[in-house]
Amino acid sequence: MRQQDLLGSLLIILVLVPSGVGAVNPKSEQHDRIAQGQALFKSDCAACHGVTAKGDGPLAHELKIPPPNLTALSHRNGGEFPADYVYRVIDGRDLPRAHGSSDMPVWGDVYKPAPPSYGERRVHDRLTTLVQYLKSLQVE
Ligand code: HEC
Repeated sequence: MRQQDLLGSLLIILVLVPSGVGAVNPKSEQHDRIAQGQALFKSDCAACHGVTAKGDGPLAHELKIPPPNLTALSHRNGGEFPADYVYRVIDGRDLPRAHGSSDMPVWGDVYKPAPPSYGERRVHDRLTTLVQYLKSLQVE
């Protein structure tokens, strides 16, 4: 093999290998997201909703309104997961405050540190992650 050919082959390998390694696998990305959602749920939600999300957290009996079973969201919505509704309830900022008289925290505010632009992206990311996790828990 001439030296030029060898260089050419090396270049091709250098270009092809990293693109193969970096390819995004949508399945494992989805899996990561659900794992992240589970971690968030355990730290922020399980005290009331329970680690299984069925409404049996250690604080549940202290609340005026018992925390609902979050594995039955689809079931209560005619078999379809109400993703937008769930997002808005967790965010909590644009709900009428009558609903806010409950003990469910307004996570949109909790997840929003300064500076504002970075904060909003972070809020959206966390809410979406939680919504996807809850979607994965639904039992029909
Ligand atoms: C301090 C206790 C508490 C914590 C912590 C909490 N919740 Fe709640 N959650 C509630 C209560 C109480 C309700 C019922 C509120 C109502 O009906 O007004 C509720 C309602 C909900 C609902 C609406 C369910 C339905 O059937 O309409 C969703 C979704 C939800 N919570 C998700 C979450 C998520 C996700 C987290 C963590 C980020 C979380 N909650 C943390 C107490 C809590």
